[in-house]
Amino acid sequence: MNMLLADIDAYLLQACPPRDSILEEMESRAAADSFPIVGPLVGRLLFQLVCISGAKRILELGSGFGYSGYWFGSAAGSGGELILTDLSSRNLRDAESYFRRGGISCRTQFRVGDALRTLEQLSGPFDIIFNDVDKVRYPQVFMQASRLLKPDGLLISDNLLCQGRVLKSGADEDVRGMQEYTRLIFQNEEYVSTVIPIRDGVSVSVKRS
Ligand SMILES: C[S@@+](CC[C@H](N)C(=O)[O-])C[C@H]1O[C@@H](n2cnc3c(N)ncnc32)[C@H](O)[C@@H]1O
Repeated sequence: MNMLLADIDAYLLQACPPRDSILEEMESRAAADSFPIVGPLVGRLLFQLVCISGAKRILELGSGFGYSGYWFGSAAGSGGELILTDLSSRNLRDAESYFRRGGISCRTQFRVGDALRTLEQLSGPFDIIFNDVDKVRYPQVFMQASRLLKPDGLLISDNLLCQGRVLKSGADEDVRGMQEYTRLIFQNEEYVSTVIPIRDGVSVSVKRS
């Protein structure tokens, strides 16, 4: 990551208030296993976006062991519905256990398999779709998610900056996927999009009504 952004991230992280014990346990596990989670700065943003938008029905593509989902589930509360997806059944079993221990009260489904296939099988509308799958798949997610997103709904994606690699030429296919996704969210007139450069960059795209 660009040094200045890394320094800003470290500064904000040390000022960030403590999380509940389950989130902190998940953060320790991610650090120990080098597992990429969105972390507390982005987690808080996800929580806020649910509160601001009043989102109740949320779909997550690429849930890992449930860290970002936990923020969504906490914000949506007992009236909410959250679908988590991951290629790994073990990840989702662990997510289920964290949710149970943390008392996450929204209705929750854990769907193992390719999130792009799951997207095809689901019916909308969703208030929020959060995308954190393999970066090369992002353009495909953009094409498919629109069908399921309600007007005024939010498509949120992580890792828009690929640790600064999006700035370099001769990019690998993950970076090219991200560059293409960035172009799509800014150029598609059905959406109004912003990229927020916290941590590894988060995009928030509002589907016009
Ligand atoms: C960056 S991690 C997700 C972290 C999680 N969103 C968080 O912040 O707590 C990406 C996850 O997406 C899953 N994944 C990658 N490609 C996927 C796909 N096509 N369908 C479903 N899951 C996928 C991986 O198994 C991995 O657990």
